[in-house]
Amino acid sequence: MQTINRLEDLRKCVAALKNGGKTLALVPTMGALHEGHLTLVREAKARAGAVAVSIFVNPRQFGANEDLDAYPRQLAADAAMLEAEGADLLWAPTSDQMYPDGYATNISVSGVSEGACGAARPGHFDGVATVVCKLFNQVTPDMALFGEKDWQQLAVIRRMARDLDLTRPHVDAIIGVPTVREADGLALSSRNRYLSEEDRRRAAALPKAMKQAIAAIEGGAEVAPTLHTLEGALIDAGFASVDYADLRDAETLAELYAPGERPARLLVAARIGGTRLIDNMGVG
Ligand code: PAF
Repeated sequence: MQTINRLEDLRKCVAALKNGGKTLALVPTMGALHEGHLTLVREAKARAGAVAVSIFVNPRQFGANEDLDAYPRQLAADAAMLEAEGADLLWAPTSDQMYPDGYATNISVSGVSEGACGAARPGHFDGVATVVCKLFNQVTPDMALFGEKDWQQLAVIRRMARDLDLTRPHVDAIIGVPTVREADGLALSSRNRYLSEEDRRRAAALPKAMKQAIAAIEGGAEVAPTLHTLEGALIDAGFASVDYADLRDAETLAELYAPGERPARLLVAARIGGTRLIDNMGVG
């Protein structure tokens, strides 16, 4: 695996892979890799001739009071994991390379980015869309893989790729991969490592309460009181607050007050011991 930090070297490496006739899959990450990321790499290897992984802790997607400085950084350990998985190329640009002096462009995707994490983290999805657009232009992959754990992020990226004609030959080149979970149901996340032992134990209440809410909604219960019960269950389990618990259209992310014909998704963000956890599951 080649680790590359400069754009000109990246372009040469990508050209060599493509001249060799290989299709290229990109797995964008912010590092602190876990089994969820490695699942994306394995899926990418199954679908493409070569796999590029990017590691860049993108400052533009963190709010002023968020965990940018504390976000775990472990490039050497991440590189070793990717090497063991057989990734071909690690793209690890510096902040100066991504956003040189005078950088002034922002990509903002309306609609799908509003509400849920978009409301709770103003500017977050502009930062995500901007960096992912840059990564697509830098790496020029045939396909890119993202975890479904960040469901709204995936919807934002799909919308941006369609709107800006970024994917070829068709939009399926953006592939969502199902969330990887711990034995007790907690979705894997780089931020789980912030949890104390006690909070980690309590955090399992999140997927549990979500499953109960989904069973109730699928059984005909009204959405608003069911979500209210879910929020109460999280607070009772030791969560400090719930940012949102929404039923949304799986593709447009429009808020739903009752399940309909189209696929729906339950999206939740809640805070425990200073850590913000998000999760989502299909409904119906
Ligand atoms: O999901 C992430 O790790 C990040 O939001 C992404 C897609 C790599 C953009 O920085």
